[in-house]
Amino acid sequence: MPAPEIHSTTSPTSIAATCALYNLTPAEFAQLHARAVAAKATAYCPYSHFHVGCVLLTAGGEYIPGANVENASYPVTTCAERVAFGRAITSGHRGFKAVAVATDISPPASPCGMCRQCIREFCELSMPVVMFDGSGGYSVMRLEELLPMSFGPEALGVPSVA
Ligand code: THU
Repeated sequence: MPAPEIHSTTSPTSIAATCALYNLTPAEFAQLHARAVAAKATAYCPYSHFHVGCVLLTAGGEYIPGANVENASYPVTTCAERVAFGRAITSGHRGFKAVAVATDISPPASPCGMCRQCIREFCELSMPVVMFDGSGGYSVMRLEELLPMSFGPEALGVPSVA
């Protein structure tokens, strides 16, 4: 899979094309950007100093944030995406329209393998994952591109909540 194209968050033309492709409004895209960046500032990351913000757009139009929470026992760390999904699911949300992640690096960081599997639990394979970098760029990939041939609830006979 080639690296996805990087678009500009200040280009209305790029944003309009992204929104048309992924069934988002420009207002939703602006909110995803602003809220993912704001969530990044809430990260607890004294070990890596790598701030990650995530925001989920629910089917009901709400925005649920998360950020990475590290631990002195490193593997106990929870990524931003899983913090956001934990908050959303335990608040009763089901069904999502988009996942957005913000970091300070360029090209933009993509969700780690464990987080891709977490997204798989709660989202359709066509779910857009928007990745914002630290210098005004973004890329978008669908979950099925990030996690091909994935394993999900239906393999265990459990209906998907996506
Ligand atoms: N991190 C995330 O929050 N999400 C990812 O998908 C990748 C990594 C965090 C975990 C850790 O706090 C820091 O980034 C460095 O790995």
